Amino acid sequence: MYVCICAALNEKKVMAAVEAGARSPASVLKHHGASLQCGKCVGMIRDMVASCAGDCQTCANVAHYEAELAASAANDAADGEAAYGVAAE
Ligand code: FES
Repeated sequence: MYVCICAALNEKKVMAAVEAGARSPASVLKHHGASLQCGKCVGMIRDMVASCAGDCQTCANVAHYEAELAASAANDAADGEAAYGVAAE
């Protein structure tokens, strides 16, 4: 099934870009030498990137993605602490 009609990218091509490290619609398109045109594929590509989430363990960038998740969780925790005044104690 085509995901991006404008760039003629099917699911296989999108996932190849994700497995190579692409983590946004723009980077997926760039991986294949294309750029965003109509934008109708953005939501689906974002969903595909999110569904990957390093769970498959076949992605070459699992370690990098896990590091990003850990950093994001740390930032969320820090924000939560500040919001509830825990950091000030
Ligand atoms: S469908 Fe992807 S840019 Fe148009």
